[in-house]
Amino acid sequence: MAETQVRDVNNHVLFEIATEVANRVGGIYSVLKSKAQVTTAEYGSAYTLLGPLNRSSAAVEVEELEPKDPALVKTIKSMNDRGIKTMYGRWLIDGAPRVLLFETSTAYGYLDEWKGDLWTVAGIPSPPGDSETNEAIVFGYLIAWFLGEYVFHEKKRAVIAQFHEWLAGVALPLCKKRRIDVTTIFTTHATLLGRYLCAGSVDFYNNLQYFDVDAEAGKRGIYHRYCIERASTHAADVFTTVSHITAYESEHLLKRKPDGVLPNGLNVKKFAATHEFQNLHQQAKVKINDFVRGHFYGHNDFDPENTLYIFTAGRYEYRNKGVDMFIESLARLNHKMKSSGSNMTVVAFIIMPAQTQSLTVEALKGQAVIKSLHDTIKAIEENVGKKLFERSIAWTEGQELPEDKDLLSATDKIMLRRRLFAMKRNNLPPIVTHNMVNDGEDPVLNQIRRCQLFNHPSDRVKVVFHPEFLNSSNPVLPIDYDDFVRGTHLGVFASYYEPWGYTPAECTVMGVPSITTNLSGFGCYMEELIENAADYGIYIVDRRMKGVDDSVNQLSDYMFEFTKKSKRQRINQRNRTERLSDLLDWKRMGMEYVKARQLALRRAYPNAYEDEEPDFFGSHEVKISRPLSEPGSPRDRSGMMTPGDFASLQEGREGLSTEDYIAWKLPEEEDTEDIPFTLTL
Ligand code: UDP
Ligand code: G6P
Ligand code: GLC
Repeated sequence: MAETQVRDVNNHVLFEIATEVANRVGGIYSVLKSKAQVTTAEYGSAYTLLGPLNRSSAAVEVEELEPKDPALVKTIKSMNDRGIKTMYGRWLIDGAPRVLLFETSTAYGYLDEWKGDLWTVAGIPSPPGDSETNEAIVFGYLIAWFLGEYVFHEKKRAVIAQFHEWLAGVALPLCKKRRIDVTTIFTTHATLLGRYLCAGSVDFYNNLQYFDVDAEAGKRGIYHRYCIERASTHAADVFTTVSHITAYESEHLLKRKPDGVLPNGLNVKKFAATHEFQNLHQQAKVKINDFVRGHFYGHNDFDPENTLYIFTAGRYEYRNKGVDMFIESLARLNHKMKSSGSNMTVVAFIIMPAQTQSLTVEALKGQAVIKSLHDTIKAIEENVGKKLFERSIAWTEGQELPEDKDLLSATDKIMLRRRLFAMKRNNLPPIVTHNMVNDGEDPVLNQIRRCQLFNHPSDRVKVVFHPEFLNSSNPVLPIDYDDFVRGTHLGVFASYYEPWGYTPAECTVMGVPSITTNLSGFGCYMEELIENAADYGIYIVDRRMKGVDDSVNQLSDYMFEFTKKSKRQRINQRNRTERLSDLLDWKRMGMEYVKARQLALRRAYPNAYEDEEPDFFGSHEVKISRPLSEPGSPRDRSGMMTPGDFASLQEGREGLSTEDYIAWKLPEEEDTEDIPFTLTL
């Protein structure tokens, strides 16, 4: 905790530190990027994000600027003078927050010294050869260096430093040991052990209390990383996580009860009229149709009007992200659709980056064949048009009207014939669009093989595995991820380990129904909040109380029921889904970040609050209106004031109590209904 008491807490400075600043890896990037607008609205230039410099992504995402804050100018100059390269600028996203990125490679000369120091001051070992940990150490020392110098130059304002996840956490024990006059928050978005244990075949959730954490980390070769994570957790003034399920996990695996839960929001953009997002769905779907026509060339025997696009996406964590369950459920769905004589076809996409060599010739050929067909037909159209026009102007009364059979010339017919024969195909449409480095051992491909989902004409469920994140410059599937999501009908995220899970939340705000599980932070959050979630396009598979086989059946039943919906029903459901956006807006969710920062300031500078009532239920009451006016069915079941009010985030409490994990309660427990529907700032 910081020692000086004179700093101005009202007019404070905020730094947020993460490895995904202007650098997309996974969901933390989504947190920072989508939250930027509300945070800059609150802080203006007193908010800066600190991260490691990744030149290729920064070149695209950051515009360089000269810093203005005198303390920042002096600190950066002093670090630059000692050989540390930095980039300061505006992150080119909504809210345009300032970022300061450190080129870690310019500090590797200090690596051995810093590793030794980390062992001396914090007892954290760092074996050779773990480049990810080395990077975390160098970054952490640079951040501690930066913060130390910054508070030396900035003596008036209080400084809050909020760190995201262990990779950015090394500076936390350093700040504490060096007694740097900042107040700190550590927000974890997962635990290392949670990710590792779940990826294996452990019954994770029933054994959380019993794991011998040091031994488990040791067995997996991550003891030193675990030490960093645990030290970050314990050194922070305030410790938070993204969901109650992860709060429960953190309590047992990191041995500190979080002070509160900061659920993730999104930057929700409202359309003036609902039909606008429906139109966007249609436009994006046409782009997916184009890809599908090419990919399935020679086998386009299914009608695009009766085709549904279902997808899963995320980092390639086969078991954690529930891809195993998704593929098995698709096989059962295929069987159900076939035996019920369904006239629908499902194209299921798996978007997960894996190691690949290149796009396959077959995938490229599919798109090329269809493009040539398009071009040829366009040329024929022009020829026919020209001929028809010539004949029409030469026509005089008494002559025969131009005959359509004369309009297609012999050359046109040959051109068309050539294109049609090019579409002949002896093999089945491929599953995967890329050449995989490890085709024979790839878990997704092997599961697809086991389930025999081979894109046979008789299959009602077709599968496309795109082992790379999407972007509009890809030659095979040229569409950005957001547009792709809009164009689909249903997202499926059957996660086993998912502290929050942005992917289904993103579907919701785009008006795309999704299936998730009650082991994901998002799933639990929505389940707690909405009574008849399925009507709103939020389907939640029970992976807690059901056996695996029953969960798979539940998932395939959800999908099967979805295939039976009429177009009208799908449109209505999308409208309802989109109406839930307000629940996920940072304007609402961001309140928990505000509270966490207030708590951090109170803990570090208690004297600054001496004259105030110490509780949060004081004078300035703000009523949060019910987020949805219609329809009336989503409930504010627990009467929560703001999204994290399951949690405490208040001074005078030793972190969350286990009873606070309302969303992670055993089924027979009762809800607490007595929290007032008001919030005090
Ligand atoms: N994502 C993406 N491109 C893709 C697929 C996914 O940018 O082709 C993003 C997606 O928008 C989401 C993030 O990857 O924001 C995944 O975050 P999530 O919280 O679901 O999982 P994490 O990777 O953090 O475990
Ligand atoms: C949107 C568009 C409609 C289109 C419909 C297709 O609602 O505004 O013009 O017919 O999407 O829905 P579907 O579920 O069949 O993709
Ligand atoms: C982590 C989790 C994911 C969460 C994201 C953002 O990477 O795996 O579930 O959505 O962080 O908090």
